[in-house]
Formats: sequence, C-alpha cells, structure tokens
Amino acid sequence: MNSADLFNLKGRVAMVTGAGQGVGRGIALALAGSGAGGVVVNDFYADRAEAVAEEIRALGVRAMPMVGDVGDLEQVRAGVAAATAELGTISILVNNAGNGGPDGFPREMPLFWETDPAEWSRFFHVNTFGVMNCSHAVLPAMVEQRYGRILTIVSDAGRTIEGRQAAYAAAKAAAAGLMRGIAADTARFGITANSIAISSMRPPMNPEQLEAYLASDRYKAQMTHYTIRRTGLPEDIAGTALLLCSDASSWTTGQVYPVDGGYSSAL
Ligand SMILES: NC(=O)c1ccc[n+]([C@@H]2O[C@H](COP(=O)([O-])OP(=O)(O)OC[C@H]3O[C@@H](n4cnc5c(N)ncnc54)[C@H](O)[C@@H]3O)[C@@H](O)[C@H]2O)c1
Repeated sequence: MNSADLFNLKGRVAMVTGAGQGVGRGIALALAGSGAGGVVVNDFYADRAEAVAEEIRALGVRAMPMVGDVGDLEQVRAGVAAATAELGTISILVNNAGNGGPDGFPREMPLFWETDPAEWSRFFHVNTFGVMNCSHAVLPAMVEQRYGRILTIVSDAGRTIEGRQAAYAAAKAAAAGLMRGIAADTARFGITANSIAISSMRPPMNPEQLEAYLASDRYKAQMTHYTIRRTGLPEDIAGTALLLCSDASSWTTGQVYPVDGGYSSAL
C-alpha cells in the first residue's frame, strides 16, 4: 500500500463551514492541498468566504464561496444544491462553524445560573443545529454514492469540564452525540462521522497584540493547564482533520479525537 494514497482525497469535493478564518480556513487549505477536487468555502461573511476561495483557487483547486448561516436550514439547502451543481457531489463535510456564531463569544461568560436564557440559543443555533442542517443536506447524496466523510469540530469544553461555558459545552456535546448517531445510521453506506475536540486556539491578532498576549499573566496561567504550553494554531488541527476526511480512517467512526496540546490529560 502506498501511504501517500491513504491521505489523498482523490478528487473528492469537500465543504468546510465557517472556513473564512481560523481553524476552518486551515482545514479548507489542507484539504485543497491534499487532492480535493473542489472546496466549498462556507462563511456567514461573504468577504471571508471569497478570500479563502481565492486562496484555494491559487493552489489550482476549484473553489466556491457559499455565503450563509449554517443555522438556517433553507440557506444550507440552497447552498448545498448550488455547490453540487457547480463542483459535484459533496463527499466530505467539515462542520467547523461554531463558537458563539457570527459575532463570536459574548464578552462576558457568566456562571450558568446567571446566564440569560435568551442567550442559550445562539450556541445551539450554530454548534448543534448548524451541524444538523449541513449533515442533513449532504447525506442523501453521500448515501447514494456509498461514500462520505463527516467531521465536526467540537470542544474540550463539551468533552471535559470547563467553567462558564455550560450552554456552549452542551451544544458541542450534542454535536458529538449527533456524530455518533449519524455514524450508526450510515456505516453500511461507506460513510464515517467523527469529531475533533479542540482546546484554546491562538486568537487572530496583529504582532504587537500577540507579543502582549504571550507575555500576559493571564496567558501564562492558562498555559499551566496545557502539557504543550501554547495555544493551538490552525495547522495543529488540519492534520487530524485530513486523517479523518481521508481513506486512512475508513474503519474509524463515531469517535471524538482530542487535539488539544494535552489539555485534558493535564487536568
Ligand atoms: N478558538 C478556540 O479557542 C476554540 C476552542 C475550542 C473549540 N473551538 C471550535 O473550533 C471551531 C473553529 O473555531 P475558530 O476559533 O477557528 O473560529 P472563528 O470564530 O475564528 O471563525 C469561525 C468562522 O465561522 C463563521 N461563522 C460563525 N457562525 C457562522 C454561521 N452561523 N454560519 C456560517 N459561518 C459562521 C465566522 O464568520 C468565522 O469566519 C468552532 O467550532 C469553535 O467552536 C474553538
């Protein structure tokens, strides 16, 4: 067996949600660089989706921006139909859009009993229903072609124990449970469904902000919980994502892989 073949995506079309920046952008570029035949770049913000689609085209790979809210089923259905017409059947779905949705996390994350119940739905809208909508939209064609890879980016907040993130943790744990349910329903059709649980990523920032962030007491205190004492970078996640989107993981389904600098093992 040629090991390079195991990780080659063999011209298959991939869709990555929330791929306009951060982890999603890193995964989209990695899939494009590993033999994907086309990449659908979803993001809520058109400028971000278009910029990453352009980066992928510069690699010589077909790309299509898919602007829309993954939490809106009709937008997802329309986007998947348009992408399928342009690039072909989506064989790989990476559900990456998350956090607190297009506006990111709220500035304050209160203790659960102090949260406003009106705030809970923003976490489920993107982290749970976004994953359900996209998976539901792509699965019929995957079943028909008897092949598919679904990967969802969840969080150690939903896998281990973290304070002040209860609604987010619940929404991510639900997404991991959804992957297990989909794994069971689809295994006989050559489809796998897995999750990667990540921990704190380095926030996007300019060089001056980065220097201050790395020198801050808050960062140093946070890093005491990490075996590898730094925050994550998109390329730290992309390798495991490629593994789970490729033929190398044909016998792997319903699992949650921690890719987290040893965060959870250091608890
Ligand atoms: N950043 C972290 O420290 C961290 C930690 C654990 C888990 N995660 C998870 O990893 C994933 C990626 O995180 P990130 O920090 O790279 O993300 P990010 O917030 O930097 O980027 C996410 C992208 O998704 C888009 N997006 C948000 N809501 C959307 C929606 N409803 N529909 C379509 N697009 C939408 C945003 O516009 C943005 O461009 C998320 O699922 C997040 O929950 C992140």
